[in-house]
Amino acid sequence: MSVFRQLFYKNRKYYDDDFDWDNYTQDSYHRRLQKDVETEYRAISTEGQLTFDASTGHVTSHGAPIHPNQQLILEMVGQLQPETVHEVGCGGGDHIANVGALYPQVMVSGGDRGATQLELALQRHPELQGRLGLQDITMPFSHRWPKADLIYTQAVIMHIHTAVSHFVALANLVRQANKYVLLVENQQCHNFVRDLQSMIDGGHLEWEEANLYMVEGSGGARGILISRAPLELPVLRSDLQLREGVRASARRLKRSDEDSARGLFGFGKAAG
Ligand SMILES: C[S@@+](CC[C@H](N)C(=O)[O-])C[C@H]1O[C@@H](n2cnc3c(N)ncnc32)[C@H](O)[C@@H]1O
Repeated sequence: MSVFRQLFYKNRKYYDDDFDWDNYTQDSYHRRLQKDVETEYRAISTEGQLTFDASTGHVTSHGAPIHPNQQLILEMVGQLQPETVHEVGCGGGDHIANVGALYPQVMVSGGDRGATQLELALQRHPELQGRLGLQDITMPFSHRWPKADLIYTQAVIMHIHTAVSHFVALANLVRQANKYVLLVENQQCHNFVRDLQSMIDGGHLEWEEANLYMVEGSGGARGILISRAPLELPVLRSDLQLREGVRASARRLKRSDEDSARGLFGFGKAAG
């Protein structure tokens, strides 16, 4: 996006998604993976480089460190023990491939709306052949999308700002999941807790019950866990809990409020 378009974008009342997903790999993703991630962390792990300790719930990386967000994802898989895991917006596929490497008994799959992102994923992880598919999580729900015990996103919903798309995406994620949805996202880019609570109250989620928890990885990353059944984890009641200690971005918080305000909720639960 040119500087002029960026300035124009920031002053608009209605937003688009942060990137042009059709050209995203070429525009920035591949470069960011190489320069921002792979210079500091090991992005691709093979069997034996990662271990999960069930007594602490922690994942240890042997050799180079892994990104804290990836550590959180891997630790949640170890703790929740799903049989099937699906990543929405899997991009280059490193996270879901590493889930498969650490937990070979878990059936993994991934979806992304960008064909070139999926091509990159197959280049980086030929073992994912047959497990990836085109999926736009803001489309009407598809019964062909692979159901999984745990569905997660990492740095996906935070970039979705077109109309009410992020609400649709959240509802679809829950509908696709048997038990859990994990969101590993920048918590200032949406009012995730407020929006999910509105959707729960408005009856927009497939599950009869949806419990919101804050989860934290041993590397310090925070995420939101939506669970169908109650769990003994810190309950999330407000976005402030997630944002505690994080330097506030006035621009992002303003946009989050505007995104939330586009949600329309009615037909409250009848008193019973
Ligand atoms: C910042 S990248 C993150 C990729 C990957 N999760 C990672 O952490 O490396 C965002 C990804 O979300 C995908 N994406 C964006 N909007 C989407 C949508 N509506 N449905 C599915 N995937 C989407 C993009 O194509 C891109 O691959």
